Amino acid sequence: MNRFDQIIRHPLFQETLRKIDDLEKDRVYCLHGFSHLLDVCRILYIEVLERNLAYGKDVAYAAGLLHDIGRLRQYEDGIPHERSGLLLAEQILTASGYEKQERRLVLRAIAQHRTADPQGEGLDALLYRADKRSRPCYFCRVQTFCHWPDERKNQTLIR
Ligand SMILES: [Fe+2]
Ligand SMILES: [Fe+2]
Repeated sequence: MNRFDQIIRHPLFQETLRKIDDLEKDRVYCLHGFSHLLDVCRILYIEVLERNLAYGKDVAYAAGLLHDIGRLRQYEDGIPHERSGLLLAEQILTASGYEKQERRLVLRAIAQHRTADPQGEGLDALLYRADKRSRPCYFCRVQTFCHWPDERKNQTLIR
């Protein structure tokens, strides 16, 4: 089994996603459920392939799948999700067979997925771009109320 499949099957991953889904059931803005995570995995990995970068699919998908896992604690405790999800992400990565070096890379990307250099080449920048590109702002019904600045919405290029 692929290691990223093991992430998806991990009971803590599934339980956390179910709780996030419940908490977001009346949310009108972008959601953070499995569809979003899978979009980010695929868009990130498309860029890896297009640019011939050295990140493996297991690592690319781990970053996409786990980058918003901290949303649950953000909703519960107010701790920003790029930090509050790190412990849980590390636990799931370890249980899914990721090596120390890979865990460090993925965790750093998660920690920086909201602040990475938009033009960068590291996994953090790939994750940042994939996260933005995954959001179809063009046809969004709440576009005018969304907190995203207009220039960021316009930067979003769908893949
Ligand atoms: Fe996020
Ligand atoms: Fe996200």
